[in-house]
Amino acid sequence: MSDHFLGFGLGLRTQHFADVLETRPNVDWFEVISENFMVAGGKPKYFLHAIREHYPMVMHGVSMSIGSTDPLDIEYLTKLKKLANEIQPQWISDHLCWTGLEGINSHDLLPMPYTEEAIQHIVERVQQVQDFLGRPFLLENVSSYISYTESEMSEWDFYSEVVKRSGCLMLLDINNIYVSSRNHHFNAEDYLNSIDPKYVRQFHLAGHSDFTDYVIDTHDHDIPDPVWELYQKACRRFGPISTMIERDDNIPPLNDLLLELEKAKSIAQDVFSNTHPQMVETL
Ligand SMILES: [Fe+2]
Repeated sequence: MSDHFLGFGLGLRTQHFADVLETRPNVDWFEVISENFMVAGGKPKYFLHAIREHYPMVMHGVSMSIGSTDPLDIEYLTKLKKLANEIQPQWISDHLCWTGLEGINSHDLLPMPYTEEAIQHIVERVQQVQDFLGRPFLLENVSSYISYTESEMSEWDFYSEVVKRSGCLMLLDINNIYVSSRNHHFNAEDYLNSIDPKYVRQFHLAGHSDFTDYVIDTHDHDIPDPVWELYQKACRRFGPISTMIERDDNIPPLNDLLLELEKAKSIAQDVFSNTHPQMVETL
């Protein structure tokens, strides 16, 4: 089993701050959205530090825009590093995407053209980010609805090359793989099978909105069966990987998310009872 396996976590959301602190739920770790805490003080910061005393944390960002041709935002990175020094996360992640150009933020996680030129561009920037932050850095696959005629390779080959050459790690979002597989008509299992397990450090699980002809990554529903099925396959391929549920909208009571987390744990336990029997007791 990997030294980096944190177990089963949740995204820490404002609606659950007080509940988490009072009830100390059976959650192995929390992922926090970095941008929500990159401020000097205030109530969210109070809860962050209070909850951190009881749980390991990882930091997840949405604003790095690693794929953009704009220069890296040093002010943003400085705030990110300061927050990391405060809460000592196990790792920091952001998305393999671009979010804007020439200072204009689209507030969307836009996919990259899958080209050698883009790989070289991102690898150089990831190396700068890693040097600056001095902590393990993960890139997450985004869901997408468009593709570029310039693309020269598959998303999974592009993602693998970026990670291999830059030395960063992967946050595999199982829902995003499913969503993109439906929108771009590829086989989600081919995606999983092409990824080298040694690069995978974390999984995201989430729900989406299915419009039959296309699927949108809304993160506002329970995790649906096809995503659970893909998660089971990911557990078989990658073994014990730190897993969390990422719910961003239509936030249910904490107990509902804890039940979903139990389901993730039981799927993983079923798989690991065959592949990693020595660790099932500890889950
Ligand atoms: Fe995600």
